[in-house]
Amino acid sequence: MAEDESLPALVGELTVQQKASLCLGSDFWHTAPVEAAGVEAIMVSDGPHGLRKQPQRTDNAGLRDSVPATCFPTASALGSSWDPDLVREVGVALGTEARAQDIAVVLGPGINIKRSPLCGRNFEYLSEDPHLAGRLAAAMVEGLQSQQVGASVKHFAANNQETDRMRVSADVDERTLREIYLPAFEHVVTTAQPWTVMCSYNKVNGEYASQNRWLLTSILRDEWGFDGLVVSDWGAVHDRVAALAAGLDLEMPPNLGVSDRAIVEAVADGRLDMAVLDQAAARVLRLVERSRRREPAAMAAGAHHALARRVAANSMVLLKNEGAALPLTDAPGRTVAVIGEFARTPRFQGMGSSQVNPTRVDVPLDELTAALPEATVRFAAGFGIEDDSADAELAAEALRTAAEADVIVAFLGLPPDDESEGLDRGHIDLPAAQTDLVLRLADAVPGTPLVVALFNGSAVRTSSWEHAADAVLECWLGGQATGSAVADVLTGAVNPSGRLAETIPLRLQDGPSFLNFPGEQGHVRYGEGIFVGYRGFDAADLPVAYPFGHGLSYTTFSYRDLAVTQAGSADDGDLDVTVTCTVTNVGARSGREVVQLYVGDTAAAVARPPRELKAFSKLDLAPGAQHQVTFTLTARDLSYWSTTHRRWVLEPGEFQIAVGASSRDIRGTAAIVIDGTPPAEPLTGMSTLTEWLADPVGGPALRDAIGVDSDGQPAGILGNEELMRIIANIPLSTLASFRGLGITEDTVERLTAAQN
Ligand code: BGC
Repeated sequence: MAEDESLPALVGELTVQQKASLCLGSDFWHTAPVEAAGVEAIMVSDGPHGLRKQPQRTDNAGLRDSVPATCFPTASALGSSWDPDLVREVGVALGTEARAQDIAVVLGPGINIKRSPLCGRNFEYLSEDPHLAGRLAAAMVEGLQSQQVGASVKHFAANNQETDRMRVSADVDERTLREIYLPAFEHVVTTAQPWTVMCSYNKVNGEYASQNRWLLTSILRDEWGFDGLVVSDWGAVHDRVAALAAGLDLEMPPNLGVSDRAIVEAVADGRLDMAVLDQAAARVLRLVERSRRREPAAMAAGAHHALARRVAANSMVLLKNEGAALPLTDAPGRTVAVIGEFARTPRFQGMGSSQVNPTRVDVPLDELTAALPEATVRFAAGFGIEDDSADAELAAEALRTAAEADVIVAFLGLPPDDESEGLDRGHIDLPAAQTDLVLRLADAVPGTPLVVALFNGSAVRTSSWEHAADAVLECWLGGQATGSAVADVLTGAVNPSGRLAETIPLRLQDGPSFLNFPGEQGHVRYGEGIFVGYRGFDAADLPVAYPFGHGLSYTTFSYRDLAVTQAGSADDGDLDVTVTCTVTNVGARSGREVVQLYVGDTAAAVARPPRELKAFSKLDLAPGAQHQVTFTLTARDLSYWSTTHRRWVLEPGEFQIAVGASSRDIRGTAAIVIDGTPPAEPLTGMSTLTEWLADPVGGPALRDAIGVDSDGQPAGILGNEELMRIIANIPLSTLASFRGLGITEDTVERLTAAQN
């Protein structure tokens, strides 16, 4: 096949039928070959945290029988690492395994925003915050594509629930799309150039994402400059011709004989422009051409398992650690009671298309026993993994085991069926069998420290039981090495450094999306708008169990010397705000701190969250060591999306810059004043008197037109302060119909014409 530049010529040599066939795959996982033109089929494969390669050419999803591959920590864990370098390493490893398994494109990362803790695929998504999700996803794509293996950033866009996912319309206002649901995609596309983007199943504001020209062409290509290929989610295409015209290049899996015929017919009868077909075919050819640079590689299963362990350990979030219950001490004569079936049967991934057949699985109980060679480790299952109601015998055995121990470590988690593609949860509680057991353990052995390790892919409620626990370690769904990683963190071999990428609410009902999830009758209204996750909790000043960004360490960090400087100007388009802050490890152990920078607009023309994450940095500090972090913000970081102007608008005025260890653990704030000219608001007859008077051009013109009375005082309405207070918020055209105010229809017409 030809090189990149000669693709148009090659496309020109293909028949319409051949071009149409390129726009669909040839089976569930392969693109279509064009043998006569020397174009081979390439294979794509899930998924976001490990490969799920189907061994033979197949026509089904075949979830379980894939070729063994490393199951890396799921996105729930990766998101909590707050560590782009580490996530990049995972990308490289995934790319290497793809090379070893002859895969051209890996179907990931998944970067949809966690709008509700109920979403069944939250374990596959990174964060409730677009800045964090975008930075981590870009690192993953860079790592993957450094191996000449393509990424498929998914699911574009607004796929934030599983309920009715194939049909539901996500009804989202434009500002919310621009500020919350699109920026992670925008960042990945503009900085990491993914080879492909996968469209979502759902509709966005009434139009299927697969047929949504605004999304797939206006935003993705025209605004962001995407030059790769758009692939459908599996089965997301309903009208192949409309999808092609909207910008969807490749349909997967192929609706063979139907979609290709529809394309050929639409070209023949003039409904589809041949140029559109040529372009889509060229994009498929380009993907094939790009994938030819890929060299074979060996599997490196051992090294990748070690990486999976390091990443999992660095992603675990220590939520609570009273009385320094952790790390565990290893000493002869000490007994550690390990309670919970999850210690023996670890949960490390979720169900659905992302399910990996792991190369091996570390068992937490075995790993913890090995990591505590001096102490005695005793185990009791306590409950069954799928059980919601307590098993009296298992619970009694657990209580007996705990009674003899110096410390109890309970391994709790969600039943596997609770977290799956295709289903949302109905609540965020752990099974009662588990939470009851925790309460009973604390009651039965009150003086014995009780540590809880959690294994779940999306947030679970802690507020109903955690008072019984001294320490809580959130391990997420941490991949095949989660068993050794949890032993590393529990024993202190690794100092925990994960931070929450999503808020843990006190109650499900407190969440901003609660009343609008998962919608009804084919629509889900994103009624909370931009107030997703911590943005909403903070705006409503609601208490939470653990805030976004939270996570403890076995050491302590102090913050000082926050300083903010400005260079350039908003009006010239080169504003730079530099924020520096010094962080010191004031404890006795090496540790990693995630320094977080939040921005808030003190007084704004539109509703804005009190704090929004705009930068972060993960530092590695030895005891006593300090580091000065430097962050740079641009105008975009301070702007909001204006629906009036259809662009980002930076409102001059005061902004709060806050640096801290979580969205609610702010260690320093500084106010800055940004100068600039606000964009002129378009003035019409429906603009109010107040709006006219506030306008730098319209205001003086209106004052002139109304004029002064014989004493030289403002005439008409402008001379009557009391009336002004009452009716200044009435549109100018309406005021013109009231007599005696000094405003006539002629004035309105003249002033409006002058404005335009
Ligand atoms: C999922 C995608 C996945 C695809 C292929 C779909 O059901 O939504 O995330 O990549 O299947 O398995």
